[in-house]
Amino acid sequence: METRRLGESDLFITPIGLGSWALGGGNNPYGWGSQDDKESIETIRCAIDLGINWIDTAKGYGHGHSEEIVGKAVSGLRDKVIIATKCGILWKEDGSDIYGHLKKESIRQEVESSLKRLGTDYIDLYQIHWPLPDEDIEEGWEAIFGLIQEGKVRFGGVSNFSVEQLKRILDIHRVTSLQPPYSMIKRDTEKELLPFCKTNNIGVIVYSPMQSGLLTGKFSASPAAEFPEDDWRKNNPDFQEPLFGIHMELIEKLKPIAARHNQPLGNLAVNWVLGNEYVTGAIVGARRPSHIQETIKTLELKLNEDDIAEIDSLLTEHAKRIQESE
Ligand SMILES: NC(=O)c1ccc[n+]([C@@H]2O[C@H](COP(=O)([O-])OP(=O)(O)OC[C@H]3O[C@@H](n4cnc5c(N)ncnc54)[C@H](OP(=O)(O)O)[C@@H]3O)[C@@H](O)[C@H]2O)c1
Repeated sequence: METRRLGESDLFITPIGLGSWALGGGNNPYGWGSQDDKESIETIRCAIDLGINWIDTAKGYGHGHSEEIVGKAVSGLRDKVIIATKCGILWKEDGSDIYGHLKKESIRQEVESSLKRLGTDYIDLYQIHWPLPDEDIEEGWEAIFGLIQEGKVRFGGVSNFSVEQLKRILDIHRVTSLQPPYSMIKRDTEKELLPFCKTNNIGVIVYSPMQSGLLTGKFSASPAAEFPEDDWRKNNPDFQEPLFGIHMELIEKLKPIAARHNQPLGNLAVNWVLGNEYVTGAIVGARRPSHIQETIKTLELKLNEDDIAEIDSLLTEHAKRIQESE
């Protein structure tokens, strides 16, 4: 599979990486309902067999369970896989919520526990998960720089940072990558943030390209009511009225475009983000092998100029509908 250089690093990533948030399971306020560990490991191995060469995880996913699953899945395959994980999000002692913490000593402790869970002695890409608290982003970034010098981390990245926050850390140490949200229906990063990354040679790995499953088009009624209590999407506005109905109007109009190319809608969504010139790679979530077996076929999809113009016009109309609903 084609690979692309991530920023100015030595990491050459496939256009699609596997996201493992959902593999952290449920039983927490940011979980995805119950998830079978055996199936999770099969999903990761399937992605590697398909040629995907990077996996995104985080300590915050399922209290570290996602990292444990990644560690088990890549055991014996470490040299084939680029592991990207994150720090800076901690769980409250009672497990009821998360908070941002970027103090140097805390990050130093976090990296040790991540290395242990991942069963490795180095992390390829270590990312600050959220710029929280804002006043500590410089300290957190310096801590990551220290870990690079010690050889525990190969490259450093950040997630959910603004242009202003990126500017504040660029002088401390090179930023290999930014991980922002980006999908057909979440395009706030397009105007300023993504071009800024290009200008500064920061690689861009976008998350939730299928809007956490919404843009697969598989939800037809009111999904919020159907999600289990421990699936974070249950309380997410995109999966509730009025937004869900507006998204569904768009989804129904996009489906024929995907069908013209014999592709599922989710693949149109992933292909569309990969079409953005500033995007290095897309992190796609999958909970079972069949998910990733299907999603990878997006790399065979070649949209023509008419498709792109039609999608553009539908997305503009959708953005207008959202604005009117606010
Ligand atoms: N840095 C951050 O703050 C941040 C935030 C969010 C995500 N991320 C990263 O980005 C990754 C991807 O984001 P995401 O998981 O939110 O969203 P996504 O890739 O947009 O959607 C993934 C979800 O869609 C469903 N799905 C996937 N393939 C499917 C298929 N072929 N058919 C039907 N359903 C399918 C699955 O959930 P169901 O089957 O349950 O519907 C899957 O978990 C995460 O795993 C994580 O690594 C990072």
